[in-house]
Amino acid sequence: MDQLEITDAIENAARAIKESEAIIILAGAGMGVDSGLPDFRGKDGFWKAYPMFKSRGSGFYDLASSRNFENNPVLAWGFYGHRLNLYRETVPHDGFRLLKQWAGNKPGGYFIFTSNVDGQFQKAGFDEDRIVECHGSIHHLQTFSGAKSEIMSSDGFHVDVDLDTMKAKNLPRHPETNELLRPNILMFDDWFWVEDRCRQQKIKYQAWLKGLKSNYQEVVLIELGAGSAIPTVKQQSLILRERYNATLIKINPEGCHLADIVLKMGALEGLTKINDLIEAG
Ligand SMILES: NC(=O)c1ccc[n+]([C@@H]2O[C@H](COP(=O)([O-])OP(=O)(O)OC[C@H]3O[C@@H](n4cnc5c(N)ncnc54)[C@H](O)[C@@H]3O)[C@@H](O)[C@H]2O)c1
Repeated sequence: MDQLEITDAIENAARAIKESEAIIILAGAGMGVDSGLPDFRGKDGFWKAYPMFKSRGSGFYDLASSRNFENNPVLAWGFYGHRLNLYRETVPHDGFRLLKQWAGNKPGGYFIFTSNVDGQFQKAGFDEDRIVECHGSIHHLQTFSGAKSEIMSSDGFHVDVDLDTMKAKNLPRHPETNELLRPNILMFDDWFWVEDRCRQQKIKYQAWLKGLKSNYQEVVLIELGAGSAIPTVKQQSLILRERYNATLIKINPEGCHLADIVLKMGALEGLTKINDLIEAG
């Protein structure tokens, strides 16, 4: 993108957001990068974030597999416990505040659709009832087998992780049955994910979308940091764009073709530049 294309894209994005009646925010792991969180782009990206797994040859697929909780719970919880601690410590970057400011002022309101499990939108003050976490949340736990189909908050559970070995020093267990708990996240080869919480979120989302169709015409989609390896978020953007004749803005340093407006840059930079124009009137 040359400078002129970038300026055009930012102007078009600012105009579309200003004129919109409702906003849908779609986010992948790249949304957290400017808060200091890693994305897992490709195996190298994963090993950049977790160099300790490189010597073992373990990639994201191996560690984020539900079987890992069966075969090696200490290592499985080493990985997820580390992430839980990291996400708890992280402060969402200023781009979250800007999105909340724009979205909060729209007559039709907003919704968030994210594959992130990190809870950063809730932490930034977005309404819990306006978020779909399509892959679940690390801030919720379920039993290993999902047998009781009970989902509980992970507040009150802390996992100590040895950062040299990436092994958990303690394992979260059900307070009554002592059964091993695992994050309520959809993993690879996962037959046991308890989907109820996500299903409830989707019911609210669908109800909101239904009202949107009959009441509002100007819908803007802002997609941030969504990768291609697991394309759930990207697919959702395209479905919504078609169904609501919506303007799709994508912000991603990788760039992207399938959008109305593309900002080839990081989320924080893109959102800040758009906001500067919105505020300038
Ligand atoms: N924070 C999290 O919750 C988290 C983190 C990593 C992975 N995951 C899980 O792993 C899967 C990963 O898929 P994914 O597509 O979300 O991530 P991904 O790692 O495959 O891709 C990340 C994308 O973010 C972009 N990106 C990098 N830096 C950025 C920045 N500063 N601003 C905006 N975009 C930036 C990259 O170009 C890439 O397209 C998901 O299913 C998700 O559940 C979650």
